[in-house]
Amino acid sequence: MSKKFRKIGILTSGGDAQGMNAAIRAVTRKAIDCGIEVVGIIGGYSGLIKDNTIPLTSRSVSNIITHGGTMLYSDRCLEFKTEEGMQRAIEVCKKNEIDAIVAIGGDGTFRGATDLTWRGIPTIGVPGTIDNDITATDYSIGFDTAMNAVVDCVDRLRDTCESHARCNVVEVMGRHCGEIALETAIACGAVACAIAEVPFDEEACINKINELKADGKRGMIVIVSEGVFDADGKPYGEGLRKRIEERTGVESKFARLAHLVRGGSPTLRDRSTASKMGAKAVELLLEGKSNVVICEVDGSIVPIDISFALIADRLYKNTLKEGDLDKFTEEQVNEMKLIAEKRRKEVAERYDLINQIAN
Ligand code: F6P
Repeated sequence: MSKKFRKIGILTSGGDAQGMNAAIRAVTRKAIDCGIEVVGIIGGYSGLIKDNTIPLTSRSVSNIITHGGTMLYSDRCLEFKTEEGMQRAIEVCKKNEIDAIVAIGGDGTFRGATDLTWRGIPTIGVPGTIDNDITATDYSIGFDTAMNAVVDCVDRLRDTCESHARCNVVEVMGRHCGEIALETAIACGAVACAIAEVPFDEEACINKINELKADGKRGMIVIVSEGVFDADGKPYGEGLRKRIEERTGVESKFARLAHLVRGGSPTLRDRSTASKMGAKAVELLLEGKSNVVICEVDGSIVPIDISFALIADRLYKNTLKEGDLDKFTEEQVNEMKLIAEKRRKEVAERYDLINQIAN
């Protein structure tokens, strides 16, 4: 079925991610190519509620593919979670004759996309978050650039660790997901990695550092995901640094990379995936689809129903609420379980790999 849209809107919401601009560019140009007008909604769902929009042309998205951040700006909007806020957003869409929306962001953004779709504005989600924490998709825009930024920073720390025979505990972003930590720990040759998904064996980490020190190893890196906390609820990395120093005699430093890795020019991977996902979102809207998130699954760009994606995410993260699975068929629930199992297996394999080659 081919649907006729006169005008679509694009917004970016939640934490920004490198490659969002490439997605904005692809959505805009693909839509224009299909004879559809495009407006940019400035400042995420807040911008929609405040009627803050700009027309987008092929020229207004020129030269943004190389830039980090998002030219449409972003925020996390509490007002949009209220019925009043959502109704206001729908009124703004009607006033501006916005027939459909492409929303780029993370799981909060997709919940907003569902709210819009149910209230009459077909919306499609594009995953843009450095955390790569959307279970239904193998990849989210920004992940590769963020990881490369971590590698660049840790390589620098490693140089100075090597010179001074030190250990550096490095905390990386990933609020509910250790993907950045896991991958960068492998790529940076870390001696240990702590993520929330797997219980961290601190004793084994300290023993390893003692053994490596005795073996003549000088510079050592430990990567900790920001989602790991100690028993007092404090970020784990700083305390770990202290205990490593006390129990190994290796002088140890702590670095929190935080937002440093969320900016900068996107890598090829992010520009390319964002462009493919953005164009696919427009194609699917024209096919009459909505309330889906564009996912990468085993190398293909495919749509997945947002409700399915959000519940699959909860199933993986063990945060299911009562009744969450009720509206899905047995086949769908089994599919969710397979996705979660696949993710868990991949996490466990990479976690083991870090320990196997840290010697
Ligand atoms: O959603 C990505 C993320 O970068 C998380 O890893 C991090 O905890 C969070 O955003 C920080 O967001 P904010 O921009 O609100 O500080």
